[in-house]
Amino acid sequence: MNARKLIAAAIAVAAFTASGAMAQTVKVGIINTYSGPFAEPGELMDRGITLYMKQHEKDLPLGVKIELIKRDDTGPQPDVAKRLAQELITRDQVQLLAGIVYTPNAMAIAPLVTEAKVPLIVMNASTPVITMKSPYIARVSFTLWHSSYPLGQWAAKHDIKTAYTAVSDYAPGADAEQAFIKGFTESGGQIVGSVKMPLQNPDFAPYMQKAKDAKPAALFVFVPAGTQAIAVMKAFGDVGLKQAGIKLIGPGDITTDEGLDAMGDVALDVITMLHYSAVGKAPGNAAFVKAYQDEFGKDQVPAFEVVQGYDGMAAIFDVIKAQNGKIDPDKTMDLLKGWKYDSARGPIMIDPETRDIVQNEYLRKVERVNGHLSNVEYETIPMVKDPWKALNKQQ
Ligand code: PHB
Repeated sequence: MNARKLIAAAIAVAAFTASGAMAQTVKVGIINTYSGPFAEPGELMDRGITLYMKQHEKDLPLGVKIELIKRDDTGPQPDVAKRLAQELITRDQVQLLAGIVYTPNAMAIAPLVTEAKVPLIVMNASTPVITMKSPYIARVSFTLWHSSYPLGQWAAKHDIKTAYTAVSDYAPGADAEQAFIKGFTESGGQIVGSVKMPLQNPDFAPYMQKAKDAKPAALFVFVPAGTQAIAVMKAFGDVGLKQAGIKLIGPGDITTDEGLDAMGDVALDVITMLHYSAVGKAPGNAAFVKAYQDEFGKDQVPAFEVVQGYDGMAAIFDVIKAQNGKIDPDKTMDLLKGWKYDSARGPIMIDPETRDIVQNEYLRKVERVNGHLSNVEYETIPMVKDPWKALNKQQ
């Protein structure tokens, strides 16, 4: 290249990077729970988002930037979530939406993303039908059926003959209950009672007493991860179910990694099914845990919501990179269908038919590892598709 051409090229590059017209800023609206008694999963998810951004911002194409616009839905509050989504879409003109801890919020937002054609990457909310509510929704988290259906089958085949179920009284609780009961009874187990517990301000002790009085071999529990999981574990201990020989089992939401030490010894031996454990053996997990601790503190352990936020950002980065920052909603959904990633939880994929996640489920038992209570993985069920959709042959 001669000198004149070199100078021309340098001017072109300078113009490209300096000009607002050429640079692409992709606006991503994050609707998450940042305040109130339901905020813990949201804060963990936010850490995953932050960590991925920090590690990978440099990998974006030249001139492409991501602007995250974060909003607080304050908990399972569909009206708040809907208003926030409306504002993000119409006023802030986001090209993508992500986050959403709670199912009622995802259900409220679904019609808006369909109408506006703004792809939504669900990073937690777990009722199976969410992905069916809009062709512009893909999920990187899980459904309650992923965990609770195979757990029911496992329990019946491992000498648990009777079970009692206690779940939060909202859609994910109903899903967990139905999934567990189906898996358990199909494999020969018997349900001796079921109860629904209030989602707002629950006092778990009376429900634990009812479960104890029914004398089941196992108590299956689902409550949202976070402070409620710690409270239900405490009530399980205080009411004396463990001493009465009743085994506590459930989806891994009830033994989240970051809450285990706060739960204390009552959590020992609790058996759960989930897609991630901080002591999991997936190839990428050791580096993930180290990066998390370098960022947030040596005493911190990542929980499943962190991984979901992190992996959700990986999906977002990939669709932005593939389109060089110019987001087309339909192209984005095509890119998400069949998207694959080597996650800290193991390999994951977005099912092209349902836009729901396909991932390993791990059977885990709470044990003490290096002085900390941990979800130690014992069995792996590889690449599970949402069993509810498979059983109902719907998409
Ligand atoms: C949900 O509302 O979909 C939800 C929230 C917290 C969980 C699981 C599911 O731990």
